[in-house]
Amino acid sequence: MLSYQHAYHAGNLADVHKHALLSVMIDYLTRKDKPLSYLETHAGRGLYFLDGEESAKTGEAAQGILRATLRNWFDEDHPYARALAKTRAAHGAQSYPGSPMIAASLLRDMDSMQLCELHPQEYEALFPLMKRHARLHQHDGLEMAISMTPPTPRRGLMMIDPAWEVKTDYTQIPKLLEKLSTRWNVGVVALWYPILENRAQAGMVARLMGAFPQALSHEVRFPPARTGHGMIGSGMFVINPPWGLDGEAKRLTDLFKSL
Ligand SMILES: C[S@@+](CC[C@H](N)C(=O)[O-])C[C@H]1O[C@@H](n2cnc3c(N)ncnc32)[C@H](O)[C@@H]1O
Repeated sequence: MLSYQHAYHAGNLADVHKHALLSVMIDYLTRKDKPLSYLETHAGRGLYFLDGEESAKTGEAAQGILRATLRNWFDEDHPYARALAKTRAAHGAQSYPGSPMIAASLLRDMDSMQLCELHPQEYEALFPLMKRHARLHQHDGLEMAISMTPPTPRRGLMMIDPAWEVKTDYTQIPKLLEKLSTRWNVGVVALWYPILENRAQAGMVARLMGAFPQALSHEVRFPPARTGHGMIGSGMFVINPPWGLDGEAKRLTDLFKSL
C-alpha cells in the first residue's frame, strides 16, 4: 500500500539538499561531449505547485526552497537555479521541478533517460510530462534498478530516492547498491535517505560506508518541519561521485548550519 505523496514535501529542505547535489552532478557530467544515461528508480510526479493545497498544508516549501531563495543560496548560474528558472518560465512562478524535471532541464538531446514510478496517480501525472524525454516504467524501482543496468551508454547516473515507507528498505538497499556496483562499476549511483531522530538510517549508512569507502557521504541537519516530526536532516550517499561534488557539499554544510 503506497501512501507517500511527494506533493506535501516538494521544495522542503531535504529537496533543496538533494536537488542541489543532483543538479551539480548532472551539470558536471554534461560538460563532457559524450552521451550519458540518467536513470531514476522513484521519480515522483515530476512537477509540483508550491501554492497548492498540499504544500500549504505542511508549509515545508516555505521553510525550504522559498527561504533558500530569499537567502540567495543559489546564484543564477547554479544548475539548480537554472532548472528552477526553466521550470518557472514554462509552468509559472509557483511551480517546482521534481528530480526528473531537473534532470530533463539539464540533460542534452544526446543523453537518454529512464524513469520508474510505481504509484498510479503519480505515474499518470509523470507520463504526459516526461514522455518526450524519457522511457517510463510503472514498476518497482528497486527491481528495475537491476534490469536497467548497465545502461547504454554506460556513462551515467542513477538517482535512488525511495519514500522509505517499507522498513526492509534499510537492509535491502545496501545489498542492492553492492549488486549494482558489480553490474555497473562506472555508474554514479546517488542514494537519498532521511536522517531520523530515531536513527533508523544509522545501521544502513554504516554498512554503506564500510562497503564503499571511496563514496561521498554527505549529511545536513535542520529543525523538524513540525513538532514531533521525526526527520531532522537529509543524507546523500554517492558512489563514484563526480569531480566538484565535494565542494558543493561543503558549501551546503555551511548554508544549512546557518539556518
Ligand atoms: C521521495 S518521492 C520521489 C521524489 C522525486 N525523486 C523528486 O526528488 O522529485 C518517492 C516516490 O517513490 C514512489 N514509490 C514508492 N514505492 C515505489 C517503488 N517500489 N517503486 C517505484 N516508485 C515507488 C512514490 O509514489 C513517490 O512518488
